[in-house]
Amino acid sequence: MPPVRPVVPAGSPGAASPRPKQPNKHDELRLLINSRHPIIAVETPEEDRVEALLADVAMDLGVGLYEWSVTTGLAKAHGAPLYNTDSPEQAVANIALIQGDGIFLLKDFARYCDNDKICRRLRDLAEKFRAVRRSIVLTAAKMELPADLEAEVMPFQLGLPEAEDLLPGVMQVLSDMNREQRIPMTLNPEAMRQLAQNLVGLPQEEALRALRKSVLERGKADAGLLDAVLETKREALRTEGLIETVRRDASFLDVAGLRHLRDWIAKRKNALTPEGRRFGLVPPKGVLITGVQGCGKSLAARAVAGEWGFELARLDAGALYDKYVGESERHLHKALELAQRLAPLVLWIDEIEKAFASAGSSGDADAGLSQRLLATLLTWMQDRESGVFLAATSNNIRVLPPEMLRKGRFDEIFFVDLPNTEVRVALFALHLKKRGRDAAGFDLARLGEASEGFSGAEIEQLIVAGLYTAFSAKLQLTTEILLAEMQSTQPLSVTRAEEVQSIRDWAKTRAVPAD
Ligand SMILES: Nc1ncnc2c1ncn2[C@@H]1O[C@H](COP(=O)(O)OP(=O)(O)OP(=O)(O)O)[C@@H](O)[C@H]1O
Ligand SMILES: [Mg+2]
Repeated sequence: MPPVRPVVPAGSPGAASPRPKQPNKHDELRLLINSRHPIIAVETPEEDRVEALLADVAMDLGVGLYEWSVTTGLAKAHGAPLYNTDSPEQAVANIALIQGDGIFLLKDFARYCDNDKICRRLRDLAEKFRAVRRSIVLTAAKMELPADLEAEVMPFQLGLPEAEDLLPGVMQVLSDMNREQRIPMTLNPEAMRQLAQNLVGLPQEEALRALRKSVLERGKADAGLLDAVLETKREALRTEGLIETVRRDASFLDVAGLRHLRDWIAKRKNALTPEGRRFGLVPPKGVLITGVQGCGKSLAARAVAGEWGFELARLDAGALYDKYVGESERHLHKALELAQRLAPLVLWIDEIEKAFASAGSSGDADAGLSQRLLATLLTWMQDRESGVFLAATSNNIRVLPPEMLRKGRFDEIFFVDLPNTEVRVALFALHLKKRGRDAAGFDLARLGEASEGFSGAEIEQLIVAGLYTAFSAKLQLTTEILLAEMQSTQPLSVTRAEEVQSIRDWAKTRAVPAD
């Protein structure tokens, strides 16, 4: 096989592919104009971005761009204003006289459209424009149009800037701060791209403000800045309600076993880098982790965030029912939208069956609601752009509606089984170390052998209980004390043997072993 050639020369963020700015938005807007929508409305506080986007589109289509504002009147971009066009009515009258194709950006114009004459003129203009490639673009932070006009107007969602849109600004801010304030900078181009990615979710100006704030707080622009901007972003978005951001306190270093799941996650990290994407790797969307109680499902879901350096947020699915009765769907919608803004993010839904299970059973009183909630979630899973990775866990996957488990929803369904001897040894070593004990002083092989049937959580509990016993007897913790604790404990796999077996049987054919 020939060696894989990097598509982009290493170390040059500016050398990223010569794609136009805001590629998707660019194409979308060009299509609207090309398909002869006479009036397009963009509700956004980010006027500068609209202007830049329109300049690109106008150039692309080879048409003139005119701009109007109440202070400058109507002018061709970078040209002198046309005489006597400050008044909105005169501006519209003038546009009617201009010949040829063109795009007319009218800033803050919505507020004048209540005037009957102006509204009528605009509608007449719209009628004439249908025959030629001419479009009026209205922008305003808040767009309220009279009903008559509304029917003629095509709304355009500008959306928030993507990482690529933010990157030039990010580089500019850092280089300015380096020059003017002597802030040391040690970020390589890849880190800068990641920095831009971490700021996605905020409008451009706000993103750059958050960046400046984080740099000033640190006094330098180094690798730690990547986390710092996530923190600032989180503050800026003031997360509340259903989504709660969680400290990233686990990585796969804290997980024993689950080797297959761990490899899977590690491999997917590349798909999240620009190089990986250019190579054609498809960014992962999510996993569902199911299995025996206490074997590390929730822990593994959290560890994904640590592994990838993503933000971690938990969606409290249960609250959809108790806390937001009557408004569950709206809140879920809002939460998912917020998740998108917090990207790059691992969205953790623990025990997903709690919110969506009864969607499967028509007899349940909540069935209608959970069906609608499920539909909202599934649509989101299908449509969303990458940047949010869903890590869901389920203790009882059998009650989940089949739509959720269908191929293509989750990238993979993993099954976490009771740990084997080797993993149990690792569990003892890990949890002894976590409690400040030197694992070398214990007979790990013996502990591993003797603890057949114990889950990770139960092994951790053995150590906790052993520490109590040792402390009250004024002894150090020993292998013997742990073995004695084991004797007096019945693991779940014994007390609820049937249940555990049925979970295993179910998973055998339907999920991939995590280990
Ligand atoms: N594989 C493991 N590696 C390291 N620690 C583990 C492992 N499995 C369990 N533990 C320990 O047990 C605790 C509980 O595990 P966790 O909550 O992740 O299990 P779970 O599978 O989600 O259980 P449940 O079904 O009760 O929700 C973890 O916080 C961790 O301390
Ligand atoms: Mg759990």
